[in-house]
Formats: sequence, C-alpha cells, structure tokens
Amino acid sequence: MMLRSLLFVPGDSERKQTKAVDSGADALLLDLEDSVAAPQLPAARARVRELLTARSDRSRQQLWVRVNALSSGILLQDLVAVFPGAPDGIVLPKASAPAEVAEVGNYLSALEAREGRAVGATKLLVIATETPQALLTLGSYRPDARIAGLTWGAEDLSAAIGVTGKTDQQGALTFTFQLARSLCVITSAALDVQAIDGVHTDFRDAAGLQREAEEARRDGFSGKLAIHPDQVGPINAAFQPSAAEIDWARRVVAAFATAPAAGVINLDGKMVDKPHLVQARRILDRY
Ligand code: COA
Ligand code: MG
Repeated sequence: MMLRSLLFVPGDSERKQTKAVDSGADALLLDLEDSVAAPQLPAARARVRELLTARSDRSRQQLWVRVNALSSGILLQDLVAVFPGAPDGIVLPKASAPAEVAEVGNYLSALEAREGRAVGATKLLVIATETPQALLTLGSYRPDARIAGLTWGAEDLSAAIGVTGKTDQQGALTFTFQLARSLCVITSAALDVQAIDGVHTDFRDAAGLQREAEEARRDGFSGKLAIHPDQVGPINAAFQPSAAEIDWARRVVAAFATAPAAGVINLDGKMVDKPHLVQARRILDRY
C-alpha cells in the first residue's frame, strides 16, 4: 500500500488521536519520541497500545509508532510496550547506519515470533538523514524486505551540524539540506521503497505546504509527513496522479500492448520508449 500522507500524533494525546483517526491520513505515526515529554512516556506507551488494540482494521488507515532512537537506550521498552497492539510499522528516528536498522529489524523478528505473527510483518520507515554519520552511510543500505520507506529530517541534522539556518535569502534549502533530501530520494529508489518527504512545520502556511508537496512529488517522493490534520488533504491531493497523467499512462501502456514487437512508439508526435513505459506503469500502480 502506497502511503501518501503520514500524520504525526503525539502518543499521549487522546484528543489528537481521536481527531487523527478521522483526518483522512493514509497512516498515523503515533509518536513516543520528540513530541512526548519524558514524564509522560509511560502513559503515552499505554495510550498508543490501547489505540492500536482498539483499531485492528487497518484497511483504510495504517497505524505506525515512532519509537525513541536506538541510542536513547529506551527503544526496546517502547517496542515491548506497543507490540501487542500489532503496529503496521515502526518509524525509526536518528538512524545513523544500516547496521542500526538491521539491529532493530532483529528485535522486531523476535517480538513477532513471540506474538505468533509472521516474521517480517512489521515494516520500518527509517528517518535516514538526522545525523551527519547517517548521511555518510546512505550508500551502504542494501534491499531489505522490512524497510518500507525512507524519510529525511532537517531539524535534528541542522542541530547536529550547528548551522544557523537551513535556507538561503530566497528561502531555498542550502546545499547541505538539498543533499540530504536528494540522497533520501536516490537511496529509496535504489532500495525500491517509498521516499517520504519531511514535515512542513509551519502548519498555517497552506500555500507553502502545497508548493513543497508538489515539488516533492516532482522530485520522486511518493508521500509526505504531516504534523497537523489540515495538511492531510493537500498532501493526499499532491501525491495522487492527475487525470491527465493517468490518461497518458493508460495510452502508453495500451500503445505498447497493441504493438508488442515495438521498442519505440510515436505518441502524439513524441517519442515513447521503455523508460516511459516504466513511468506509466508506476503512475497506474499508484492510482
Ligand atoms: N493530530 C491530530 N489532531 C491534531 C493534530 C495532530 N497532529 N494537531 C492538531 N490537532 C487538533 C488539535 O487538537 C485541535 O483540535 P481541537 O480543536 O479539538 O482541540 C485541532 O486539530 C486544531 O489544532 P490547532 O489549534 O490548529 O493547533 P494546536 O495548537 O492544537 O496544535 C501542534 C499545534 C503543533 C502542537 C499540533 O499540531 C501537534 O501536536 N502536531 C504534532 C506534533 C508532533 O507529533 N511532532 C513530532 C513530529 S515532528
Ligand atoms: Mg526529531
């Protein structure tokens, strides 16, 4: 299932969880990390587990949990607390290397076996650019059926590097953050998993969100993180192929189907060959 919109919801807020369920988000990311104050963490774990258990039908909306980073020392407690609720996936923040992802995958395998669930059923969304070390190791990821997607984050990375701003005078990302964003898309494509764009934290800025989501789609992302219910509709719309794109894709597929021996076709005076067919199939898959 392609996830267009993934809405963060603080793990300790029942009020926001109730709202989030009706937001139209393809997935909720129930947060136990940055949006939960330390004293609230035990209550948040219990709350998240309760929601997971109460909503066992995930056909319209997946439920994921963002746990604390491996380096926090409390990731295992987070996993053990929520696992009986059968989360669709785990969001792993501040992952610094593929070996860390593999280690968390092994913990998930053990918990799945204990719960009598298929080993590998719980997917991972890796926040893969939050530390400087992470950026330097992206090239050593190898395909792994547990990884469903990669996403990138600028907030923690900018703190770790010590930059005083992430954008230039025109508002465009500076090179370091463009690099993180591009490497996220490229690594996701190499692994054949979803590339998920990061959050637009200025949640009142609807025009900015729309622009960012459209640019993300253009650049190869297939979904985007949200932090507010108002962001969900525009994100879903931006990642849904347009009627014109679907029409084009259908005609490309049909043209090759009627000429099975042709490697290249003239469609409305434009050359269409194998890469276009791949792109057309991708659009139809998403639709
Ligand atoms: N999920 C579900 N509901 C949310 C929500 C979210 N992420 N963010 C806001 N809402 C709800 C609010 O509770 C409010 O509902 P109410 O009127 O019934 O109280 C309604 O949507 C409107 O919210 P608004 O007043 O515009 O914003 P706010 O000041 O209540 O909340 C934030 C602003 C940033 C605190 C909030 O959006 C939030 O908690 N976002 C998620 C933060 C997070 O998880 N961060 C970690 C990842 S970066
Ligand atoms: Mg963070």
